[in-house]
Amino acid sequence: MGRRATAVLISGSGSNLQALLEAARDPAYPARIELVVSNRPDAFGLERARRARVPAAVVDHRAYESREAFEAALEEELRLAGIELVCLAGFMRILTPAMCARWRDRMLNIHPSLLPAYRGLHTHARVLADGAAVTGCTVHFVRPELDAGPILVQGVVPVLPGDDPERLARRVLEIEHRCYPRALALLATGRVRVEGERVRIEDERPGERLLVHPALGRLEVDPAAPETAAR
Ligand code: GAR
Repeated sequence: MGRRATAVLISGSGSNLQALLEAARDPAYPARIELVVSNRPDAFGLERARRARVPAAVVDHRAYESREAFEAALEEELRLAGIELVCLAGFMRILTPAMCARWRDRMLNIHPSLLPAYRGLHTHARVLADGAAVTGCTVHFVRPELDAGPILVQGVVPVLPGDDPERLARRVLEIEHRCYPRALALLATGRVRVEGERVRIEDERPGERLLVHPALGRLEVDPAAPETAAR
């Protein structure tokens, strides 16, 4: 199987796009980023695409009368570029069930929480308000329901004392940037099957679908942990 032609859909900064572009610079990486599409003309990710010399298009949702018309324009871009796989990377438009069906099991999304917890917006503020000790990110197949679909890769991140939503978001983004290239590689190699809405990976090795933030690894061996100190 050749390298799979992949499009990345963005709405903003595009730091996950950057991680995918960097991974795909390696000729051994099983996907090539052939197209970037933004629904916002001012998205910084467009500049990242330009620097990486990857074709980029703007399909501004405000220029279309309906969601269907917007998606028809979007899909025309994908078709012209011969796209096989799609990665949503901070793409802040909800897709219609029809488009989700056409790209079923060929379209990934990244969400900044450990799904199915904290679907929707403001995840980090909600995690902090709940006093959760861990959070993370999830790369999953896209389904019509918001932030739902078979889970492919997750990354785990500790919530640390003094965190605010911005600091926590930065830590989660660090693991997002490792999870998304991993997930796309698994999909592009053809080892992934979705069976009964669960992901199965051919010859899966332990840990292939789980990344751990270094700050969490350090905590696990922290000699100052209270239960260790008490002994
Ligand atoms: C990322 O944290 C991504 O997980 C999130 O938007 C950010 C985009 O950052 N996506 C969602 O919340 C989708 N529900 P980026 O533009 O720098 O990649």
